[in-house]
Amino acid sequence: MSPPLLPNTAFGAAWLAPEAFRAVGTRRVAVFGDGRLTETVRREVEQACARFGGVSVVEDGADLILALHSWPELPAAAEALRDAAAADPEGFVLSRQREVTVLVAGGPAGLLYGFFHLVRLGEVAFSADRPMEQHRPAMRRRMVDHWDNVAVHDVMGQVERGYSGGSIFWADGSLRKDLTRVRAYGRLLAACGVNAVSVNNVNVHAVEARLLTDRLDDVAALADQLRPYGVRVHLSVSFASPMVLGGLPTADPLDAAVRDWWAGTTRRVYERIPDFGGYVVKADSEGQPGPFAYGRSHADGANLLADALAPHGGVVHWRAFVYNHHQDWRDRSTDRARAAHDHFAPLDGQFRDNAILQVKHGPIDFQTREPVSPVLAAMPRTRLAVEVQATQEYTGQQRHVCYLAPMWREVLDFQPWGPGGARIADVAGGLVAVSNVGDDRFWTGHPLAQANLYAFGRLAWDPGLDPTAILDEWIGLTFPRDASGIPERLRRTVHELMDDSWRTYESYTAPLGVGFMVSPGNHHYGPDVDGYEYTRWGTYHFADRDGIGVDRTWATGTGFTAQYPKPWSGIYESLDQCPDELLLFFHHVPYSHVLHSGTTVIQHIYDTHFAGADRTHEMRSRWREIADTDLVDPDVYARVAERLDEQVRSAEEWRDHINTYFFRKSGVPDAHGRKIY
Ligand code: GCU
Repeated sequence: MSPPLLPNTAFGAAWLAPEAFRAVGTRRVAVFGDGRLTETVRREVEQACARFGGVSVVEDGADLILALHSWPELPAAAEALRDAAAADPEGFVLSRQREVTVLVAGGPAGLLYGFFHLVRLGEVAFSADRPMEQHRPAMRRRMVDHWDNVAVHDVMGQVERGYSGGSIFWADGSLRKDLTRVRAYGRLLAACGVNAVSVNNVNVHAVEARLLTDRLDDVAALADQLRPYGVRVHLSVSFASPMVLGGLPTADPLDAAVRDWWAGTTRRVYERIPDFGGYVVKADSEGQPGPFAYGRSHADGANLLADALAPHGGVVHWRAFVYNHHQDWRDRSTDRARAAHDHFAPLDGQFRDNAILQVKHGPIDFQTREPVSPVLAAMPRTRLAVEVQATQEYTGQQRHVCYLAPMWREVLDFQPWGPGGARIADVAGGLVAVSNVGDDRFWTGHPLAQANLYAFGRLAWDPGLDPTAILDEWIGLTFPRDASGIPERLRRTVHELMDDSWRTYESYTAPLGVGFMVSPGNHHYGPDVDGYEYTRWGTYHFADRDGIGVDRTWATGTGFTAQYPKPWSGIYESLDQCPDELLLFFHHVPYSHVLHSGTTVIQHIYDTHFAGADRTHEMRSRWREIADTDLVDPDVYARVAERLDEQVRSAEEWRDHINTYFFRKSGVPDAHGRKIY
């Protein structure tokens, strides 16, 4: 039996709590425009006004005007914004003069995003004159990838690396019968600016492969639910589809029959779903089929699908997560961190215009701390998207509070060519998150993990937003409030738990950027320092009695540092200049090595692990202080409280494993005399 479909507490509304619509819902609103998304906006306005006493569609005397720039007859106040609004179909222009708030959009999608922007602003949008502001998304492609399996997989369950229950799309091997929740999901995505979703796992198993052909009706049904909110559906496809589904003897990208198969199959997809977004492909990666089997390059592979999609306006998101997962741990010359750049950088300029290379933000695999992938600086003639992981595979699995926006913001701000040069946010046209939602009644298992998905959408729209301010928005849209807003005490409590939670998580887990000390036997949850050390996965820390870290320098190590442009190649290469938080990613050092902070590596390990675990106690105390208030829904309170208990337990487990391991390896006692077992 599948769990209940609809969220059964107010928190299930996530960042669209009904009360968040009060400011819009008390106005006299005029909407000018037509088309599906404009109708969605009209319905939203009606719903808000019905709840809060406003008037949804007025002819005269409006104090809120929402208009498409292309609408022939506009009131004078909107007419004045018409030209400025034309700039971007997803953008909008906002101003308030003489007690009328006016929003003119460059297209229907812009109207929808503008409407939710007003919801976010609340009364502020109606309280004083505002000079004209222009809003448009920084990134065109703002996509969430679901790693959902249609049928439950024997090892990975239904949602691979999912910590929020089952899939909201699929249950018991089929499309869910009631898709109400998918519609609600589309609405949430639109409200934070996301415009695309991929509905199945990048590891494409047999049942899921068929979504492309004989189960296309299922995909079409999902597209129907998401379309009213401007979210386009994408599919993960297997590179071997022509063989698996089409019965061909090969999937060689240069084979004429293979090309015909993809062209015909893709045409049928578009006949059924005219606004289908395109494909997502994991090829030659962790056992998935790919072009290497035919001696072809990944540009050949990606272009095959790009050519099939091009006549219909679709794109292929081709993942750069390609590495040897059968490495010999004794071989010190092979370096998984190098793999994506080695494979892809030489192909720059060879990809079609509708092929987007989707690059994980770091060179390894979504660790708590990694440098930014050098691939993102090596492919100026290729369309790029950065992939981040909202699902907290390596950051506490939605049992720990870990607000990821500060990490993502650092990635997007990184300037590969040094100060004053372009940022990652400037070179990437897309941001993609691996989804963290499921059929859990709070959507994300840990209620506070909703903020990660919200923040992802907001950063894809505007990578310059401050993570603390985004969190503040999320709090304002999510928690119950009275007419005067969210109580200050609640706001403060949530900030205290979340603002620094990523760094807190980092402090009690793997140190100084070394990564991968997680348990392979427990699906990457909890510490197992040597869990991956003697395996084929290429994720090693090389700790011994003398020191720890991976020598990735070109002088004496794997040469990975040379994949960065100047100045970073030099900074990472230099033991003196390498930032502390990435030291062990780039260098193997003795435990006595002194960090920029002035402390030794071994003492840093002890100090951060004690402090991090202590900090989780403080977080739990802060939450308990609001136990007997009515500041949050009792179910939400209880769920967060239960998870904080687990976070405290797990942080102590991490602290004790890591500290004991390194104490025994190094024999160096804690300078502060604390007990290490
Ligand atoms: C990680 C994760 C896998 C996933 C892979 C990917 O390695 O553990 O479950 O399939 O990333 O991004 O493809």
